[in-house]
Amino acid sequence: MKEKTIGFIGLGNMASAIIKGLRQSRDFRNLKIIGFDLDEDKRDLMSRDYDVAITENTLAVAKDSDILILAVKPQSFDELLPLLVPVLKEKQLVISIAAGKPLAYLCGYLGKDQPILRVTPNINAKAGASMTAICQNEAVSPEQLEAGSAIFDAIGSVIVLEESKMPAFSAIASAGPAFAFTFIDALSTAGIRAGLPRAVAQQAASAMLFGSAKLVAESGEHPRALVDQVTSPGGTTIEGTHTLSRLGFEHAVQEAVKAVIDKEKTLMGKAKDDKQ
Ligand SMILES: NC(=O)c1ccc[n+]([C@@H]2O[C@H](COP(=O)([O-])OP(=O)(O)OC[C@H]3O[C@@H](n4cnc5c(N)ncnc54)[C@H](OP(=O)(O)O)[C@@H]3O)[C@@H](O)[C@H]2O)c1
Repeated sequence: MKEKTIGFIGLGNMASAIIKGLRQSRDFRNLKIIGFDLDEDKRDLMSRDYDVAITENTLAVAKDSDILILAVKPQSFDELLPLLVPVLKEKQLVISIAAGKPLAYLCGYLGKDQPILRVTPNINAKAGASMTAICQNEAVSPEQLEAGSAIFDAIGSVIVLEESKMPAFSAIASAGPAFAFTFIDALSTAGIRAGLPRAVAQQAASAMLFGSAKLVAESGEHPRALVDQVTSPGGTTIEGTHTLSRLGFEHAVQEAVKAVIDKEKTLMGKAKDDKQ
């Protein structure tokens, strides 16, 4: 991995989170990272803060990298992918982090012999805590899968999944942070209503969520069993969980996940139609 060059097309939110994570990891600290963004400010920032060598244009990233990461919005793919075809090298690993762009769509442009990983990281990469899922096409070698996994391992943890499971995974792990931030904001606002300063309310809410997630992950206990442990009979907490249930909290969460999956299916269907 040390001698490889990783290239990023697009240096926005996700690319900067991934690059920041890579630079903080011992294995990738000195790795050559190149990239290009249409936005000059982003280019300057990534060059200055994360030692990203800025190429002369978008296509030069593809030409000069061993592993190419496509980190532009899904809407840009139809324009970008055909331009990449003539410059990609045989066996060059291409990693797409775009939501709603399946392997069949990517292979439709790049060819089924181009090694491609479809990867679903999340914004928690900014804190080195992205839970990332990876699936691959048949052209990907075991070494390439290992190299791709190592990149995303540096910014959290990685799971290799069948592509059919990606929409469900993505709705929980990729869209989920937005739900978690909404929950933290709602708790903080409730704290302010009850008289806490914003900073204290927000710190209490985020530290609580962090600790609860850690407890679930480390104990392996069913979350319901943990709810039982904090709701004493006739106590105060059961009033809160009862109110959440009465107002449809679990139902709202399940419907939110389903809405994300439905939207991704629509986008995937559209991607297929656009390519036909
Ligand atoms: N944000 C998330 O939580 C998240 C989570 C998982 C996956 N993703 C995926 O990550 C990808 C990037 O999302 P993001 O939130 O990082 O987007 P973003 O912040 O908008 O970054 C994309 C950047 O790429 C630039 N760009 C567009 N076309 C380009 C081209 N041809 N050459 C070079 N640069 C180009 C854009 O410039 P302009 O703005 O000037 O067009 C923009 O600065 C998306 O496909 C998204 O689905 C995002």
